[in-house]
Amino acid sequence: MKQRLEQLLTSAKQAISQAETESSLQGVRVAILGRKGELTALMKGMGSLSQEERPVIGSMVNRIKTEFEELFESRRVVLHEASLSARLSHESIDVTLPGRRSLQGSKHPITLVMEDISAIFAALGFGIAEGPEIERDFYNFEALNMPKDHPARDMQDTFYINEDLVLRTHTSPVQIRTMLKHEPPVRVIAPGTVYRCDSDITHSPMFHQVEGFLVDKHVTFGDLKGILTEFITRYFGADIGVRFRPSFFPFTEPSAEVDMQCVICGGSGCRVCKNSGWLEILGSGMIDPEVFKSVGYDSEKYSGFAFGMGVERIAMLKYGVNDLRLFFENDLRFLKQFN
Ligand code: DAH
Repeated sequence: MKQRLEQLLTSAKQAISQAETESSLQGVRVAILGRKGELTALMKGMGSLSQEERPVIGSMVNRIKTEFEELFESRRVVLHEASLSARLSHESIDVTLPGRRSLQGSKHPITLVMEDISAIFAALGFGIAEGPEIERDFYNFEALNMPKDHPARDMQDTFYINEDLVLRTHTSPVQIRTMLKHEPPVRVIAPGTVYRCDSDITHSPMFHQVEGFLVDKHVTFGDLKGILTEFITRYFGADIGVRFRPSFFPFTEPSAEVDMQCVICGGSGCRVCKNSGWLEILGSGMIDPEVFKSVGYDSEKYSGFAFGMGVERIAMLKYGVNDLRLFFENDLRFLKQFN
């Protein structure tokens, strides 16, 4: 038995030192110490030993087992290190390579234009107000001098939610909400989203406007002209021509549409300005006394002007975009250009 144990240790040592991989080493371990291993088999035979032999052989088995474990473990460490360094040497990493950057988002051009417009009016002393996109009939129409059967309601293709609620067709209701909350003097702009049941190459059912108004004592049409001319020249350049044309809105009297010189042809006439040399960019006027009545302002004491402009149109003119739909398709190749 002793002899067989010594033989086993010798052959195990050899097998361990010859194992070239961690998994073949593990195979050697199982072949010796496993349930059907050689040492396990020898230990089973110990039952037939005499009383004197048993402790001697027993301690020998333990010594061999310990020695085997030690050899096994040190070989395992060597093989592990070797396989690790082999892997590291062929999986080299170039730490000087630039990393993969995550894409950085940017503001939508319509947001940028609204912010730029707002910044100009803020510099002129205007505050910023907001109102809900789902609006009461009263604020969207009634209080703006458009009673139920007023023909001007047809000009705005309204999305009705019910008898009393609409998706606001313009930002003008913010005028009413603001005037009901604040006494004059007020000087406010209201950028926001508006909706109309209209969709073709030049109309989107959802678009944006910037509304503005000013109410104080002694406000005149001259103030309106001064502020709007200042805005247009600050935004489009000091040498751009501006003109005021008589028009009609139910909530202003007198009313004017404002044109600026065509930014595409410089005024000589082209397809964009329909050969007129001018582009319409906003509606405006002196606030109608009927509007003051509905918010409880005294029109003997106060006067004011208001204006409203389409943001998409202004963005198209500012950046030379020739198709409105580009703003809503969210094609990254388009949006990235406004980074
Ligand atoms: N609310 C008008 C529209 O959507 C635009 C407008 C015109 C606003 C004249 C005004 C204004 O404040 O005075 O067509």
